This record gives sequence, C-alpha cells and structure tokens, in this order.
Amino acid sequence: MQLPESEQTIFETILGRRSVRSYSPDKVEANVLKTLLEAAVWAPTAMHKEPWGFVIVQNKEVLQNLSDLAKPLFIEELKKSGARVDFSKYIDGNLFYDAGTLIIICGKTNGHLPVADCWVAAENLMLAACAMKLGSCIVGSALPAMNLPEVRSTLGIPMGFTAIAPIIIGYPDAESAPGSRKAPLILKTIT
Ligand SMILES: Cc1cc2nc3c(=O)[nH]c(=O)nc-3n(C[C@H](O)[C@H](O)[C@H](O)COP(=O)(O)O)c2cc1C
Repeated sequence: MQLPESEQTIFETILGRRSVRSYSPDKVEANVLKTLLEAAVWAPTAMHKEPWGFVIVQNKEVLQNLSDLAKPLFIEELKKSGARVDFSKYIDGNLFYDAGTLIIICGKTNGHLPVADCWVAAENLMLAACAMKLGSCIVGSALPAMNLPEVRSTLGIPMGFTAIAPIIIGYPDAESAPGSRKAPLILKTIT
C-alpha cells in the first residue's frame, strides 16, 4: 500500500473525525478510493477471514433513487422502534447529503463475526479519509433499503453477502462543529 501523506498524529485524526453532512461537488478520485479500501482491509479480522466486499456508488441518480426508497422504510422502522429522538437532520433532504460517493461495506452472511469485522473496517476507512482531509458519514438510515432484492440487484450485492456499513465520502465544504463525548463509563476496574 502506498502511504498517503498526512501530518496528523493518530490522536489528532481520531479526535478530528466528524460526521460530515455537507460536501463540495469535487469528485473523489479512483486512486483515493483505492487507498481508503486498502485502509479498510487492514482492519483486524476475526479468524483472519476478511469477510468483506465493497460496493462503490458515484452515480447521482442511483444515489437519489436509493435515498427516495430508503427514507420511508427508515421512517417506518423508527416508528416501530418507538424512538423518541429527533431524526429530522437525518431525513430532511437527501439521506446521503448529496455526497458524490457512497461506499457500502458488505459482509459475508456466514462465518465468524463478519458484522464486527465490517464495522472495524469502516472505522479504519473513515479515519483514513479524515487523515486525507476527506469527510465521511455512516448512513445507517439507508440500510433497511439496501437488502431489498431490487436494490441488491442494482448495487450488485451477490448472494452470500449483505450490506452492513454504508459510508458517504467527499470533500467537506465547511468546517465541522467540534464534537463532544461523555467521559468513559468505567463499570468496574479489576486489578
Ligand atoms: C451505526 C451508525 C449509524 C449512523 N447513521 C447515520 C445516519 O443515517 N445519518 C447520519 O447523518 N448520521 C448517522 N450516523 C452518524 C452519527 O450521527 C454520528 O456518528 C454521531 O452523531 C456522533 O458524531 P460524530 O461522528 O461527528 O462524532 C451513524 C453512526 C453510526 C455509528
């Protein structure tokens, strides 16, 4: 893997990564995507199974259709779950925030902890994106639509794989607001 240049330390990257919801129209180039996927596959993987596969969508029409299909399904899921969170920021406008690139990390449907592997790969990918001055955001709200037969077919997700982590990528068009986190909740320390 050819290492991209980055002046950030790993802690600056971890703390500096924010979910980006506004993007410039600049296209993410193929060689940049290749680097992000390389970073993803260097994640830890249970029993060294590497159970992932990637779908890359850079077609605006496909992204818009997917957003239109996903929104009502997501709203339905929220209603069923009785969630009392204000999800308007997720569902106003395009679910993918008009980002030009969506990477869907798909995982094998059998094997040992493939879902965990894909999410670890997702974080590697997003940290690499951040180090390369790209923005990213997981779009979990699109997941219910992604495993519909017609969507799987459009996205080329084969039998034996399922969509796990949809992540938009692009160049941020504004500074992100600072993030915040609670202090770690230590349930117990056993020495
Ligand atoms: C599993 C998962 C699903 C998420 N789905 C969405 C989503 O559908 N839309 C969205 O705007 N953000 C989504 N996010 C991003 C979170 O809202 C975000 O990570 C959180 O608010 C913390 O902000 P930060 O990432 O900037 O630190 C998701 C995050 C995770 C981990």
